[in-house]
Amino acid sequence: MGADLGNYRKSYEKQALLEANISDNPMEVFQKWFHEVDSNFDEPETNAMTISTIGLDGFPKSRVVLLKKYTHEGFIFFTNYKSEKGKAIMANPKVCLSFFWPKAERQVIIKGTAEKIPPNISDGYFESRPRGSQLGALVSHQSEVVKNREELEKELHQLELKFEGKEIPRPEHWGGFMVKPISIEFWQGRPNRLHDRIRFTLNEEFDWVMERLSP
Ligand SMILES: Cc1cc2nc3c(=O)[nH]c(=O)nc-3n(C[C@H](O)[C@H](O)[C@H](O)COP(=O)(O)O)c2cc1C
Repeated sequence: MGADLGNYRKSYEKQALLEANISDNPMEVFQKWFHEVDSNFDEPETNAMTISTIGLDGFPKSRVVLLKKYTHEGFIFFTNYKSEKGKAIMANPKVCLSFFWPKAERQVIIKGTAEKIPPNISDGYFESRPRGSQLGALVSHQSEVVKNREELEKELHQLELKFEGKEIPRPEHWGGFMVKPISIEFWQGRPNRLHDRIRFTLNEEFDWVMERLSP
């Protein structure tokens, strides 16, 4: 079995990314792009991003998480600190985030270091989640092997009874990470594979340096 995908080919022609039209601060460029993609393109989950970590086994691993907040300092997502990614980040906080927004023909790649956000901020977000998601976070020993689905559902049911009418506390092992960027690359698809790539890198004075990369 197999498939030859040689004819899967798309021409990118919707937009351009030119130095003259963008801010010299990449967080502002990110904000502009995110807002444009969210409002003008029918992207189903604009805030879905891939995070790659270097695992304890030495291999990189990528998976999708949801961006829940960004500020001038960095990008926040929530997860289980004891998950495979959580343990990987604790051992090596250097990570890569990437967004692919196909309808806008855009990609953003962020390299940075991840750190746990303060517990009270995680509490605030946990409280805002629907009860079902809160219970799910309690049930899930994320990334561990489970015997079967029934075990998970049984545990969920027991917790539903335990916390009936009560506030559900945030488990200590569940919370946010902020990825503080050291480089952010913006990719805009263009015709004839002459795509626009603009990369911002933090220099030693913590100023952002903008460079155009060859496609
Ligand atoms: C669209 C989408 C959104 C997701 N959002 C999250 C998230 O915000 N946090 C999270 O821990 N996992 C999220 N996941 C699940 C992760 O991709 C992954 O399966 C999980 O975090 C376990 O990864 P790990 O074993 O590498 O730690 C999401 C998956 C998808 C497809």
